[in-house]
Amino acid sequence: MVNISLTVNEELFEVSVREDLRLIDLLRDELGLIGTKEGCGEGECGACTIIMDGETVNSCLVMAFQANGSNILTIEGMEKEGNIHPIQQAYIDVGAVQCGFCIPGMVLSTKALLDKNPHPSKEEIREGISGNLCRCTGYNKMIHATEKAMEYMEEGK
Ligand code: FES
Ligand code: FES
Repeated sequence: MVNISLTVNEELFEVSVREDLRLIDLLRDELGLIGTKEGCGEGECGACTIIMDGETVNSCLVMAFQANGSNILTIEGMEKEGNIHPIQQAYIDVGAVQCGFCIPGMVLSTKALLDKNPHPSKEEIREGISGNLCRCTGYNKMIHATEKAMEYMEEGK
């Protein structure tokens, strides 16, 4: 076992983890943050995307001990004071959420993109979410949602 400490959604956790425990399992099974989804488990689908120290990572490919000292944002941390994030509102408003399985990862990839580039082009949005597979929507809705989120964030919604 390895003792690690990490900050998840602005809360500090000190936990003892097996060397072979994946970060996704720590988040879901031990911290109860089941908004992070597992699709492929092989780094292909992006359903398990989280933001770690400002960068999106596939949490199925990271070992829990590698997250020692890191600062992590999961989909649960997007809500503030009972209000969902403007990106989440935009996804809902344009109808980008169908079965919903890809959405936590998609929303976090969108957030990471907009944090770095508040005014991305359609091509840059496409590139920003290219690691996230959706079997339902065909991606145009995600692009539209990102553009709507940019509007909401500028309006301070
Ligand atoms: S579950 Fe991690 S990339 Fe698919
Ligand atoms: S909304 Fe169903 S996989 Fe994306």
